[in-house]
Amino acid sequence: MNAQAMDAQFWDEMYRSRDQVFSGDPNGVLVTEVTDLPPGQALDVGCGEGADAFWLARRGWQVTAVDISVTALQRAATAAADVEGRVAWTRADLNITPPPATRSTWCPSSTSRSQSSRITPLCAAC
Ligand SMILES: C[S@@+](CC[C@H](N)C(=O)[O-])C[C@H]1O[C@@H](n2cnc3c(N)ncnc32)[C@H](O)[C@@H]1O
Repeated sequence: MNAQAMDAQFWDEMYRSRDQVFSGDPNGVLVTEVTDLPPGQALDVGCGEGADAFWLARRGWQVTAVDISVTALQRAATAAADVEGRVAWTRADLNITPPPATRSTWCPSSTSRSQSSRITPLCAAC
């Protein structure tokens, strides 16, 4: 599978193939890096089913959660009653549309590749 083929259709089909694809647990690096930070704004790039966005929002962060997959975003939004108003679920292909401007960015799925990209790989205090 090359990167070009991993488009919205690819990700939607992956999410449709199972009721839950990921563990539902927040990424360990996110937890380590952010636990002691005061809440602010966060951008979750490639939020998928929303585990990281939920974790941030439940700690008081205001989160913009972006993903290419409508299926994943619908699944996340449906499960997000307790964080309503604290997560903006946003559909975008970040290869085409630059991430929304925010002062913190969390990019769990591309930490290594994003060292050299324009997407900042981890959260920072606001
Ligand atoms: C490893 S998954 C993230 C899983 C998420 N942390 C969770 O717990 O559900 C990577 C995510 O990046 C999204 N993605 C891949 N390419 C993208 C793109 N070009 N723009 C936006 N999102 C993209 C995929 O749809 C997928 O949900």
